[in-house]
Amino acid sequence: MKITHNNFFLNEHPLIKKDITILRDKHTNPEIFRAAVKRISLILAVEISKKYHLTKIDVESPLEKTIGFQLKQNVVLVPVLRAGLGMVSGFLEVIPDAKVGHIGLQRNEETLEPVEYYYKTPKDIHNSSVILLDPMLATGGSSSEALKYLRKRGVKNCVFACLVAAPEGIKKLSIDHAEIPIFCAALDRQLNERGYILPGLGDAGDRTFGTL
Ligand code: PRP
Ligand code: URA
Repeated sequence: MKITHNNFFLNEHPLIKKDITILRDKHTNPEIFRAAVKRISLILAVEISKKYHLTKIDVESPLEKTIGFQLKQNVVLVPVLRAGLGMVSGFLEVIPDAKVGHIGLQRNEETLEPVEYYYKTPKDIHNSSVILLDPMLATGGSSSEALKYLRKRGVKNCVFACLVAAPEGIKKLSIDHAEIPIFCAALDRQLNERGYILPGLGDAGDRTFGTL
């Protein structure tokens, strides 16, 4: 399937490729899995925040007054439960003053449709730079639903960060949310008949939390 999303950014950093291999390996235990998710998230956070704007501020060094900078915008991280939680600590390491909202969605394994169970986001989310976090972009149902919710909350500035994407999910987001940039660590081949990404890494939530 050809990728037609103009806003799709695949990060091909060598350290990301090394860590994606650790995630794919079925012998990787949850502790090592979480550590690799965190390292990849750090690199994605640096890439995404490259676009952030700054305001000038006065600062006094031990020697003299000078000009410094602070981020112009508030940042809100929004992990999709459960698997998105694994990406939060890496992003917070890079953007420590970010707020964190949560969206609870679970795919119905029969229909593959997302089922909502929890929403909690900061009141000022509409004025913030939002980063939606979910390691897996499979059919795109979950991330599309999460982005719809954020749009309803008035969010105008949003990007989606994921670890592994399937062409089917990218296509869905290019139809439902073409304006949302997708930052991704691996682009995989296809979905299987149960909606799992091939070659993929299996069920990201189960592998993160050891619930296999
Ligand atoms: C996984 C993953 C995404 C979703 C992706 O969550 O974290 O949210 O599947 O699939 P989609 O693109 O086809 O919607 P899952 O529903 O398994 O919930 P979990 O994180 O609680 O395990
Ligand atoms: N959700 C996962 O966790 N893994 C997949 O491959 C697809 C959806």
